Amino acid sequence: MSTTPLDLNNIQGDILVGIPKKTQTYFFFAIQDTTLFRTALLALIPFIKTAAQAQADQKSIADHKLKGLTTLIPMTGTQIAFSNAGLTKLGITGVATPGVADPNSDPFLEGQFKDSKNIGDAGTGPGRDFVPAWDPAFGNANIHGVIFIGGSDHLTVDAELAKTKLILGLSVKEVIQIRGDTRPKDQSGHEHFGFLDGISNPTIIGFNDKNAPPGPKPVDRSVLLTGQPSTSNPGPAPVLVDGSFLAFRYLFQLVPEFNQFLKQNPINGDSELLGARMVGRWKSGAPIDVTPTQDNPDIGKDPQRNNNFFYSGELAKGDQTRCPYSAHTRKTNPRADFTEHGLADQLNQRRIMRRGIQFGPEVTTEEANNNRSINGRGLLFVCYQSDLTKGFQFIQKTWANNPGFLNTAVDSNLKPIQPGLDSIIGQNADQARGVVGTDPANPDGSLTIPRFIVPQGGEYFFSPSISALKNVIAHIL
Ligand code: HEM
Repeated sequence: MSTTPLDLNNIQGDILVGIPKKTQTYFFFAIQDTTLFRTALLALIPFIKTAAQAQADQKSIADHKLKGLTTLIPMTGTQIAFSNAGLTKLGITGVATPGVADPNSDPFLEGQFKDSKNIGDAGTGPGRDFVPAWDPAFGNANIHGVIFIGGSDHLTVDAELAKTKLILGLSVKEVIQIRGDTRPKDQSGHEHFGFLDGISNPTIIGFNDKNAPPGPKPVDRSVLLTGQPSTSNPGPAPVLVDGSFLAFRYLFQLVPEFNQFLKQNPINGDSELLGARMVGRWKSGAPIDVTPTQDNPDIGKDPQRNNNFFYSGELAKGDQTRCPYSAHTRKTNPRADFTEHGLADQLNQRRIMRRGIQFGPEVTTEEANNNRSINGRGLLFVCYQSDLTKGFQFIQKTWANNPGFLNTAVDSNLKPIQPGLDSIIGQNADQARGVVGTDPANPDGSLTIPRFIVPQGGEYFFSPSISALKNVIAHIL
């Protein structure tokens, strides 16, 4: 347990607080000249938004709304993170997963390209020669770092990016630039399948747990931040202090195909119910564990009620009546399924801070009519954790892609069940996924769900603190 006060001026703003964003541009780069880059980085550091500044931005937005104003305050927030290839290029050592002896088993050190088979992505080739079916920009070790700028609108973010590129000059070359945008009007905050997202993120002991809305218990900051002082670790390495590992995934969503599947497989005539039982929440955000048979938008938008559910007792019965074990929210945060079996500590270690944004246009009439995607759209998934083997990698590989989870591993006395893959994000290369329990009237019945999420790239990054950027990464050797 870490007890010293958090240094909010040292931690990048997106990790614990979140950069306010209606739009966000990701600039993935390769370092061309390390000396030039270090000098450029020193000039860029003052523009990197800290947690304290992100809090101030959120407060000014809240005050603005309280005055009844609906306009957007022009603002931006710049963040930076490095892949292992980037840190290696800069001669930085010491950023790795603690306790992983073999570097080939450390997702950060080997990079996401090499880890792609392990996390279920489609591709070709055996073993370590596996080549994922990704956008070539995310090829093996192509990317050294990412600068991402979130903000109120395209004009303001574009101007900030132009300034950033001027600072970087010839020290880097662009590998790929991707723009994300929240969806329009009443779909703002909803991902492309239509479900309200970003409701359940961990709260942190001693930071934002007081007056937090009801929901899962707060976690120690060391779940999200690396290099936290503790009795076992009084003097962490300066590069690790107040940093976090960032998992980025370029996830395309086949929205017209998803909608057609729901229409073709209604539960008792109700297609929305199938969608809700695949996600674990209704489109409004209302949890099906609270309101299992029909949506209740009042619950969906009420922070006092929309995260106050635990799937209590259902695992013992093994009947999946209120929420299937394969539902996305239950697979990725199995709440009381763990805490009721004395596994709260294990569960807490798996919490991740999600900060993604949507990309791509709305579904066109032509796409909707033909039930086929023509334009690319989806989620620029980002999550933070102090250990990728406990956070993102574990959740995707050992929970979402594992048809046996949630099973008797938590308690051998329970009725054995085989839930199938996570109905939303479970990946089995490009194959369809078998899922059990979507129909509450037929809890053992299975359904074959095509792949609606197509990963097209990604990388694991390290998001250093301001002090690590200044004193270690930009330090002229
Ligand atoms: C395009 C891909 C994805 C979509 C459409 C999606 C959608 C959603 C939605 C609608 C929610 C419910 C809202 C909320 O609780 O905040 C959610 C929650 C969540 N998702 Fe995803 N997600 C995607 C990818 C991922 C990935 C790749 C992971 C991790 C491997 C992940 C982990 C989680 C977690 C941990 C939660 C919170 C569960 C809880 O605490 O109840 N998601 N997601």
